[in-house]
Amino acid sequence: MSGPNTEYDPVQVTPLDEEHVAAVRDEALAAIAGATDLAALKQVRTDHAGDRSPLALANREIGALPPQARKDAGRRVGQARGAVNQAFAKRQAELEVEAEERMLVEETVDVTLPWDRTPRGSRHPITTLSERIADVFVAMGWEVAEGPVIEAERLNFDDLNIGPDHPARTMQDTFWTDPGDDAMVLRTHTSPVQARTMLTRTPPIYVVCPGRVFRTDEYDATHSPVFHQVEGLAIDEGISMAHLKGTLDHFATAMFGEGITTRFRPSYFPFTEPSAEVDLVCFVCRGSRVVDGAECRTCRGEGWIEWGGCGVVNPRVLRACGVDSERYSGFAFGMGIDRTLMFRHAIADLRDLFEGDVRFTTAFGSEL
Ligand code: DAH
Repeated sequence: MSGPNTEYDPVQVTPLDEEHVAAVRDEALAAIAGATDLAALKQVRTDHAGDRSPLALANREIGALPPQARKDAGRRVGQARGAVNQAFAKRQAELEVEAEERMLVEETVDVTLPWDRTPRGSRHPITTLSERIADVFVAMGWEVAEGPVIEAERLNFDDLNIGPDHPARTMQDTFWTDPGDDAMVLRTHTSPVQARTMLTRTPPIYVVCPGRVFRTDEYDATHSPVFHQVEGLAIDEGISMAHLKGTLDHFATAMFGEGITTRFRPSYFPFTEPSAEVDLVCFVCRGSRVVDGAECRTCRGEGWIEWGGCGVVNPRVLRACGVDSERYSGFAFGMGIDRTLMFRHAIADLRDLFEGDVRFTTAFGSEL
């Protein structure tokens, strides 16, 4: 039996060959330097420093060498592996910094970009103005009343002293929903809310009712089958036309500012006596009746625009609605909200209010 041959120092196996180790080390260093992101570097690490990499294989061979050769080869492979690991650590750190910088750039939120890529809608200016009008009266201690838009014929007409044969019935072109004995109509004005209020409450009464009304009108720049009115009703002891005038002057100032020119024009309504129509000076020609040498189209050369009707409540209406007309008197008014809006914002075409174009309503969206 012979012992191990300690004399024999074989020619080194290829994986441990000096040139080979240098070559695989350089290859690894080049691959590390060439890795442009962390994912690529990870792959390079597997290929060049993983368990099956040439340097790992070389390392494994070392144990099989005789002592003399083992030392040299160990140093060679160890140095190569050290150089590769150092290069890895350095590249890893560089790429991490790069990745972070890239993330900061790519994920930056530009706070100056437009924020309304999904724009929010806005409330319709008629709604906003109706509330503003109600506020003017609530501030004076009035209450807001409501009534249905599909109304009994009796409340829309009869109780307001507009009997079946009264010519005033034809003044308001009516949508009938249910003809017959208990006929129903789309209310032609907000005045039936007066009757409803008097029938259900006892004086003193101070109410306003903004709401939608309907008439079979043509649809054009100044008419629409659907429009809006605000009704007002005050019933108390000693109420006179003077209170009406003072209230409407305050209302007009609240809507159009100090210096607004209004006029009362004697008129007729079956439910008021005396009655008046209230006009605003035309917001286009400012009362001059002429625009660019031609008759003002907005007021049709009148110089005035009708705002609504008003008067002292007819005692017949008070009695029909169960109010003691000996003790109480009252005033009432019904103003056009659409006209109020058009006047306030110089809107020349009423149809803009009804066509639902958000470009129109958005302009009013920021109004509080
Ligand atoms: N209801 C009337 C109309 O639509 C307006 C009106 C006039 C209302 C006089 C009133 C009033 O309350 O007193 O033409």
